Amino acid sequence: MKKLIVAPSILSADFNYLKRDIETVEKAGAEWLHFDVMDGHFVPNISFGIPVLKCIAHSHNMVNDVHIMISEPLKYAEEFIKSGAEYLTFHYEACKNDKEVKQVIDIIHQNGGKAGLSIKPKTDVKVLDKFFPDLDLILVMSVEPGFGGQSFMYEALAKIKYLRDVIDAKDYHCLIEVDGGINQDTAKLCADNGVDVLVAGSYLFGKEDVKERIEGLKNA
Ligand code: DX5
Ligand code: ZN
Repeated sequence: MKKLIVAPSILSADFNYLKRDIETVEKAGAEWLHFDVMDGHFVPNISFGIPVLKCIAHSHNMVNDVHIMISEPLKYAEEFIKSGAEYLTFHYEACKNDKEVKQVIDIIHQNGGKAGLSIKPKTDVKVLDKFFPDLDLILVMSVEPGFGGQSFMYEALAKIKYLRDVIDAKDYHCLIEVDGGINQDTAKLCADNGVDVLVAGSYLFGKEDVKERIEGLKNA
């Protein structure tokens, strides 16, 4: 039975008590910490950026899993890596063309990071085909990016299944991550289709039984 990786999204944390909330999820068994960076341009919300990442990145022992929902990822990728991003996941839709997607992946690798590529719900998963050999992670959005607390979009399951089949058939090393509306029930569906990493925000932060919830997601 594969143990899943759980990546709490700090978008749902109490920013008045960010250090406390990060310590809580780390103590509760989270191995990754998910940073949802939003620029108010690529997505209709603004969250936080480099100064917050710099402050937090080395204050815990979880993997810094940074999801940049921003325009012009090519311009900012290097600074995010240098600020502490270990996985840096950008959006296919934020790039002008496939050449730029490859350029961002290369910049991430040249700066010692692991490269992730994310697609929105309406984007065909097959646009990722040509990037598999270069990617360390693929992030399937199961909500429209921009806000926590939304409902899971079930069409994400077919994308996860497709990715699992291709990665296994070709023996690629790329992880599959899902983000949006994850709880115990939707986590199980994603696990049944082959996901590796679960991002969860509102299901984890501010909950008394966060340890049990994280354990439940790991064993979904
Ligand atoms: C959307 C965000 C959310 C967040 C998770 O842009 O990326 O998906 O991480 O939020 P929940 O788990 O509350 O859906
Ligand atoms: Zn995210």
